[in-house]
Amino acid sequence: MTKPFRLAVFLSGSGSNAEKIFFHFKNHPVIEIALVLSNNAEAGGLLRAQKFNLPTRVFLKTQFRESGEVLAWLKEYGVTHIVLAGFLWLIPENLIRAFPGRILNIHPALLPKFGGKGMYGMKVHEAVKQSGERITGITIHEVDTKYDEGKIVFQASCKVLPDDTPLQISARVQQLEHEHYPRVIEEWITEPG
Ligand code: GAR
Repeated sequence: MTKPFRLAVFLSGSGSNAEKIFFHFKNHPVIEIALVLSNNAEAGGLLRAQKFNLPTRVFLKTQFRESGEVLAWLKEYGVTHIVLAGFLWLIPENLIRAFPGRILNIHPALLPKFGGKGMYGMKVHEAVKQSGERITGITIHEVDTKYDEGKIVFQASCKVLPDDTPLQISARVQQLEHEHYPRVIEEWITEPG
């Protein structure tokens, strides 16, 4: 039986967050993962999706931004909500219009700090280290047409110790991501607003 909420997960890289999401919604009563999509055929997250027997699609920029093919797949799979889990590209307007307030992203810092174009993965943690900030964290936010803007749904913070390397910062932040993202997605879908 098809469940009422059907989630598409977009990823570009290793997909450790995506895997936590797949696991969390494996036997969920009302939410299921309908489709996993990536701009990168080599993304580790696609292998993780296959282990969960989830359908996957890889796309080119033209299919995403121009031809409307990606949007057609989302309709074909009956997708109701979209989550980004380490996805690199800006979301085009046609997708935002088709899913108003129903696209969620996770960012590995406390927005509005350390966001914007090019602020992705380790680059964020390197910038945090350079800045001398003593606190960093995660931001889960709705997606609009600009990078890392849109309504903030959830934030959690952690310490940055004076001797931390960017890698150590990223490990602490990743722990927060894995701990919170699946549950926040679930609440955002089932208790909107
Ligand atoms: C995560 O830390 C996520 O917050 C970040 O990419 C990483 C993906 O890791 N996203 C951004 O930087 C978006 N601007 P994962 O592939 O292991 O989940």
